[in-house]
Amino acid sequence: MSTPSLSPLPALRTSAAWRALESHAPALHRQTLRDLFAADPQRGTRLCVQAGGLVLDYSKNWLTPETLRLLFELARERELPARIAAMFAGAPINNTEGRAVLHVALRANPDERYLVDGVNVVPEVHEVLARMASFSNQVRSGAWLGYSGKRIRYVINIGIGGSYLGPAMAYDALRAYCEPALETRFVANVDPAEFAAATAGLDPGEVLFVIASKTFTTQETMTNAAAARRFCVGHHGNEAAVARHFVALSTNESGVREFGIDPANMFGFWDWVGGRYSMDSAIGLSTMIAVGPENFAQMLRGFRQMDEHFRVTPFERNLPVLMGLIGLLYNNFFDAQSYAVLPYSHDLRRLPAYLQQLVMESNGKFVTRGGSALDYQTAPILWGEPGTNAQHSFYQLLHQGTRLVPCDFIGFSQSTTDDDSQHELLMANLFAQAQALAFGKTEEEARAEGISEALALARSYPGNRPSNVLLARRLTPEVLGELIALYEHCVFTQGMIWDINSFDQWGVELGKALAQKISKQMGAGTADAKLDSSTAALLARYHAQRSEQAG
Ligand code: F6P
Repeated sequence: MSTPSLSPLPALRTSAAWRALESHAPALHRQTLRDLFAADPQRGTRLCVQAGGLVLDYSKNWLTPETLRLLFELARERELPARIAAMFAGAPINNTEGRAVLHVALRANPDERYLVDGVNVVPEVHEVLARMASFSNQVRSGAWLGYSGKRIRYVINIGIGGSYLGPAMAYDALRAYCEPALETRFVANVDPAEFAAATAGLDPGEVLFVIASKTFTTQETMTNAAAARRFCVGHHGNEAAVARHFVALSTNESGVREFGIDPANMFGFWDWVGGRYSMDSAIGLSTMIAVGPENFAQMLRGFRQMDEHFRVTPFERNLPVLMGLIGLLYNNFFDAQSYAVLPYSHDLRRLPAYLQQLVMESNGKFVTRGGSALDYQTAPILWGEPGTNAQHSFYQLLHQGTRLVPCDFIGFSQSTTDDDSQHELLMANLFAQAQALAFGKTEEEARAEGISEALALARSYPGNRPSNVLLARRLTPEVLGELIALYEHCVFTQGMIWDINSFDQWGVELGKALAQKISKQMGAGTADAKLDSSTAALLARYHAQRSEQAG
């Protein structure tokens, strides 16, 4: 059975809803959040939706019923429902690579069916999950021993991009669920300092290296994997140690074999899983070893719940669609250049970095699916840090700066620690910040508080700065899954409206190719005569400084 790809869309700026939003924006801008809340005392409860364990309060956004109507109309004009259906049906919507986009199949129940070229992929997904569970249990219980008979105490994930950011984020996020006898570390950068730091003081007999790379060709990962092999074989004095200290997570079996890892120690996945959408696949092995198969299954359950919510819920109550459309409103009709994600959770401190790849590698595109240059903004620059730390660094700009920066606040009612009173303080800060951004403080209010005339403006807060608040009971594996799937589908919603392919990443290729070329020239000590004058001068200075070091 063949699955059709997506039908071409007319140019976005010719869409009736787009034009209507352009006309609507100035009038919307004249109403402040103070006005909108004053006009509707129920706004705070009305503009609130729930999916699984996540509640989204989107009331502090520049939205009237008309804005929402136009945004939903835009999504319909851009055929979002058909596009969601096409993804779930396994259509090759990654059109520049001719691939299906089926990360949703990674979290399917065993009795569900997801077809790629007419073949149900769910049994294969569960076969790999079962092998991962069996291996994780062996490592966790101490049944899997290193070459010299020692128990594994350190798991080092070597991978970069999607083969790093998801597992690293999840390891911190699920700290409260991790096996204390095992420590997971991550090596991503080709900078040898990272490998050195991750292995400093470790007994190689207690280390399991997890080589995570979809392609098994990525320069950084292959270089670090080679360093790991030297570290392991150098210590054990025998290549046979590799079989006890290395596993591979990849789609490239021949590459894994060539590197010297027995395919029996390989956990596979498929080309219909994008790197930045792969934390539920074999790429999640380090997560599963840390938290155990049960908790990993709970995380998948969370992802699955959000997938189902996204697939079937009307736009009006659909969290990813709402968040996607709200983000698009500021991005395209109010010229917001960036977007801040502010988790009030130390455990979620790596979430912004994870989302940077998800959002910016997916939707940082200037070409439509049809191959023409587009004439509107696509992905915003995503950034963020955990609260409350960030309050003492960049919140000044959020409150009084000149730029519009829509924010997502993320918080939990219960702590994953025993210290509830300190947690309450954390959450009081979250609520206060969203409130201060939205409602600010006028000059008159500042004066009424006794602020001198000279300082009244400097000590006022313009307010009217929009934010979403995402609140969940507690940061559990299930809630983490829901949260990540929420952002994945939010990216999908925006990408489909912008009519771009959110699932390729050609933008990273030129730099990789040039680095290889330059690296060869550096190795040979020659310089390309056609090299631009800046790069040539930098290389000359570099070589001179290297020879000083040698001398
Ligand atoms: O260079 C970008 C990228 O291809 C990402 O999309 C990907 O997540 C990362 O590199 C790592 O790729 P791999 O898992 O194949 O090593």
